Amino acid sequence: RPRVLSGIQPTADSYHLGNYLGAVRQWVTLQEEHEPFFFIADLHAITVEQDPKVLRERTRRAAAQLLAAGVDPERSAIFVQSHIPEHAQLGWVMQCITSFGEARRMTQFKDKSAKGGEGAASVGLFSYPMLMAADILLYRPAYVPVGEDQRQHLELTRDLAQRFNSRYKKTFRLPEPYILKEVAKIYDLQDPAIKMSKSASSPSGLIDMLDDPKASAKKIRSAVTDSEMEIRFDEESKPGVSNLLRIYSALTGTDIETLVGKYAGKGYGDLKKDLAEVVVDYVTPFREKTHQILEDRAYLDGILAQGAEKAGVVARRTLADVYERVGLVAPA
Ligand code: TYM
Repeated sequence: RPRVLSGIQPTADSYHLGNYLGAVRQWVTLQEEHEPFFFIADLHAITVEQDPKVLRERTRRAAAQLLAAGVDPERSAIFVQSHIPEHAQLGWVMQCITSFGEARRMTQFKDKSAKGGEGAASVGLFSYPMLMAADILLYRPAYVPVGEDQRQHLELTRDLAQRFNSRYKKTFRLPEPYILKEVAKIYDLQDPAIKMSKSASSPSGLIDMLDDPKASAKKIRSAVTDSEMEIRFDEESKPGVSNLLRIYSALTGTDIETLVGKYAGKGYGDLKKDLAEVVVDYVTPFREKTHQILEDRAYLDGILAQGAEKAGVVARRTLADVYERVGLVAPA
């Protein structure tokens, strides 16, 4: 079975709807016919300052949400990035084959360092994409299910894999991004020109999966639309309505055309009211399950230990190959 791998950062108390629809949901469907590795990217989280206590808590919450979403620990290795030291070790090798100029072109660094200025950003934030390349290449996956915002990182990963393979010996498989067009970019409810995001969205623009469902319903009902009346899918001139239609379609499995037909002659209020109900029905059981799992910490930690064991076997093998190929002497 081809491998799939992906990761998510534990930088919020809850996943938001963009994380869930853009990535995590695909993890659940892909696990059926693949050999999956899914991890909580705590090493990536510390590229910006984190409160240690909060980070620990959020790492467990992130894992609990994966389970609540339907990631099955019997099929999938679910683990914490820092439990596998090979990520950081291969990350170093990746840094050594990346040019400064190419790292500098990564748009996420440009965006994230824009606020405080490049001089204030951590070196870790700069080398973030090389750690991510290591995360991926260690497991030699065929597919990496992510949202659109990770595409550039995937391209760098492929470049580095190719460079390593041609400079030394074929070692890495070139991973394919697995990005579903329909959900690749979920937009902010208040500002549909930007993606829904932990760092950039206002609270009212973002749906937290673990928030009080009533609060989420309210956010949907007050989502920004446009000054027309007609419900149709047009990302250029109706980004707000189109975003709502996408979310509606993704959560119910109804295609957008059918939805547009259903709402012909109706108003934005009707669409929002119905979508608010859809969201409530969707997040309520997710939230209950997450809290239930979080109550049994021994169970959760056991799953993460089991995941680390599975992942460690693969990661150690790849790193040993890499070290040998670049000319490092194996310890006697
Ligand atoms: P992170 O933690 O920011 O986001 C997790 C996943 O959610 C997707 N996503 C979205 N999809 C659609 N619409 C949105 N508005 C939206 N916002 C976020 C992201 O694309 C991502 O798939 N660098 C990664 C974590 C990572 C990783 C990896 C991923 C570290 N190592 C190796 C894959 C493979 C990140 O920060 O994702």
